[in-house]
Amino acid sequence: MTHPPHHHPASLADLAAEAESLATDIALASHLHGPKHWRAVARTGAVILNHAPRAHARSVFVFAALHDTQRHNDRYDPDHGNRAAAILEARIDHGLNDVQLDRVIYALRNHSGGDGPPQHSDPTIGACWDSDRLTLDRVRIVPSEDYISTPAVRGDLQRFRAIARQISEGEDVPWIEVAEEY
Ligand SMILES: [Fe+2]
Ligand SMILES: [Fe+2]
Repeated sequence: MTHPPHHHPASLADLAAEAESLATDIALASHLHGPKHWRAVARTGAVILNHAPRAHARSVFVFAALHDTQRHNDRYDPDHGNRAAAILEARIDHGLNDVQLDRVIYALRNHSGGDGPPQHSDPTIGACWDSDRLTLDRVRIVPSEDYISTPAVRGDLQRFRAIARQISEGEDVPWIEVAEEY
């Protein structure tokens, strides 16, 4: 999306609303990968960011808000990350610079299948993936250390897992409140 030079980027809550408005009907209606999950990933991301000082907060939020919006089904759909990346690039007023945008695109494309590595040393990409993977308990999958990138999270996985579980299995909160955690 091209904007005039002094355009003020969207607030996080507006950005999330924009992402949600572009989501597939399947994604919007999903109990496993739907809007409540996106907000849980964003809130888990906010927790991780407190332990990942070099990760870029807005990028993690953008990842959470977009990552599962383009699913075509709730099962095997390895391309949904690619489609989310395309939507981000073309349609979202993301407010990221080129380097930050490239990282989020990489994180989106490789969070779902693909040949990407299970962990990433870049703190922002790692925080994005960890935010999603820490919520896997909701689908009865135990998050494995081998798939966690953020050193502080890997080092205290059971505690972070419990926090993420509380978030993803607890009450949903509106985006405006999620944004306040950023
Ligand atoms: Fe996904
Ligand atoms: Fe997800």
